[in-house]
Amino acid sequence: MNRCIIGDCRVVMRDQIAQGVKVQMCVTSPPYWGLRDYGTAKWEGGDTECDHLARPTGGATGSTLKGSNQRGTWSADGQYRSECGKCGAHRVDSQLGLEFTPQEYVANMVEVFRLVRELLADDGTLWLNLGDTYAAARSYQVTDNKNPAVGPSRHLGHAKPPEGYKQKDLIGIPWRVAFALQQPYYTGKVKDERDRVWLAAMLDAEGSICGTEYTTGDRTKTNIYISVTNTSVPIIDKCERLFPQDVKHVYEKTNGVSNRRCFRWDVERMDTKTLFIREIYPYLVAKRKQAILGYTFLELQRGLESKKKGYLPGQHEQRSWLMASLSKLNAGEDVDLPDWVIEPPSLFEPGFYLRQDLIWSKPNPMPESVRDRCTKSHEYLFLLSKRERYYYDQEAILEPVSANTHARLAQDVAAQVGSARAHAGGKTNGAMKAVGRAPGVNPKAAMNAIGSKQNASFAEACSLQVTERNKRSVWTVTTKPFDGAHFATFPPGLIEPCILAGSRPRDTVLDPFFGSGTVGEVAQNLGRNWLGIELNPAYAKLQDKRTAQQGMVLT
Ligand SMILES: C[S@@+](CC[C@H](N)C(=O)[O-])C[C@H]1O[C@@H](n2cnc3c(N)ncnc32)[C@H](O)[C@@H]1O
Repeated sequence: MNRCIIGDCRVVMRDQIAQGVKVQMCVTSPPYWGLRDYGTAKWEGGDTECDHLARPTGGATGSTLKGSNQRGTWSADGQYRSECGKCGAHRVDSQLGLEFTPQEYVANMVEVFRLVRELLADDGTLWLNLGDTYAAARSYQVTDNKNPAVGPSRHLGHAKPPEGYKQKDLIGIPWRVAFALQQPYYTGKVKDERDRVWLAAMLDAEGSICGTEYTTGDRTKTNIYISVTNTSVPIIDKCERLFPQDVKHVYEKTNGVSNRRCFRWDVERMDTKTLFIREIYPYLVAKRKQAILGYTFLELQRGLESKKKGYLPGQHEQRSWLMASLSKLNAGEDVDLPDWVIEPPSLFEPGFYLRQDLIWSKPNPMPESVRDRCTKSHEYLFLLSKRERYYYDQEAILEPVSANTHARLAQDVAAQVGSARAHAGGKTNGAMKAVGRAPGVNPKAAMNAIGSKQNASFAEACSLQVTERNKRSVWTVTTKPFDGAHFATFPPGLIEPCILAGSRPRDTVLDPFFGSGTVGEVAQNLGRNWLGIELNPAYAKLQDKRTAQQGMVLT
């Protein structure tokens, strides 16, 4: 913790997940689509002296060079996109944000934030800042001579708007990403449901889940086997293709029934067996109980191995019962399942809960030379949670009430027309009402003391005491130019409330697009731990400078 790991955030996060790392919250600003090139491309092979330029820098994009279209030969900086036409070198870049289409960008963002979701604690939150882009048949900006680290003017070289959009269309990137993150997704390895159905049918008809228990010396050993056996090589090959394993496990064996050659495909290793059972369980017809017993056995073993302990009292009996029951089921007898067996859990994840779109209102927006729309002065900050209930410290970010709050709280709601709730609001507890509070006063406790939510004395009690209110969803924060060789930095004032509401002191805050390290600096000042990930090693000095000062840990 409290360090920035250099690399592609997707690779780094997979590694962190494998190490069991958990964070409480993530606050981040990914590269916006088609806006900037952070200069991380490298060339491998070819001639080290070659400039790899497909078109001269500053030249017209309407070049006669082959492929000067949207998916053309050259990339953001005018160099060849993948293979240099002059020297044959290969361009390698893991940078996000330079995808050719919004769809590719959204897919990459989904990949990134599903990894973030896995790293989050169960009550964790993601605070995601994203800006929008207009579809245009022109090079995208950026010329920034103050920032030599990102190089001179770079262009995306699009010769026409992305497919499906008209010139001048607002693409709606933030909402497209937010909606995509809401979607449920499958975490297993057999992504196509038809393949899972086929594998389940094969196991039901031609396969088996069976167990063995034997004693050597004073030790009883147990194992379960999952396999499909058939005389058809294509069937066995298809099992292997749909559910590939590190080692190919196809054995030839003799067929006890006829003289035809027979083949067997085995699922090997405990974790792989667990995964396989979870993949096929929802579609099994004949071997559902075997799958439950097999899964329970594997979970029992996993618990033992992870704790490096022997069996707890009762677990020997459970193991023997599981093995004996598997044999019975496979011999055609039925078995009643006790309540301690475990049903294989679904491999579908529900996706993020999209809790709120916060508007970052900028009093000092970038001037725009447009005459047919307003100057853009806001960006989105989405609050997303991993589960329905999550850690959120409302008190930590209360704001002062406005001048008219007392009058609103004192109104007689019951006597008003038009304050009834409609069904879409989800609540049914009486008329709609403004809610405010005094510092340290819990409105629910106040309601209990007074005895009713709707009576006049409650409204009076609130209106007399209220000085603070729940933070509003439009946050006015001035953008601040950062004095360093990185642009697109967060203003600290934007992320402070996120960190205060989304974490406790000493919790860990993640930023997978760490840039100049704003999140590290603010988290540290608020007594939180932090973990940064950044592709470009050139920002390391900036990050070190910003996070050198150890913050006080608040308790
Ligand atoms: C909008 S900037 C973040 C700025 C940051 N919030 C700050 O305050 O300095 C996006 C950053 O993402 C980095 N980046 C781009 N692709 C990446 C990837 N695949 N993995 C990690 N970082 C990446 C860029 O180098 C850039 O520094």
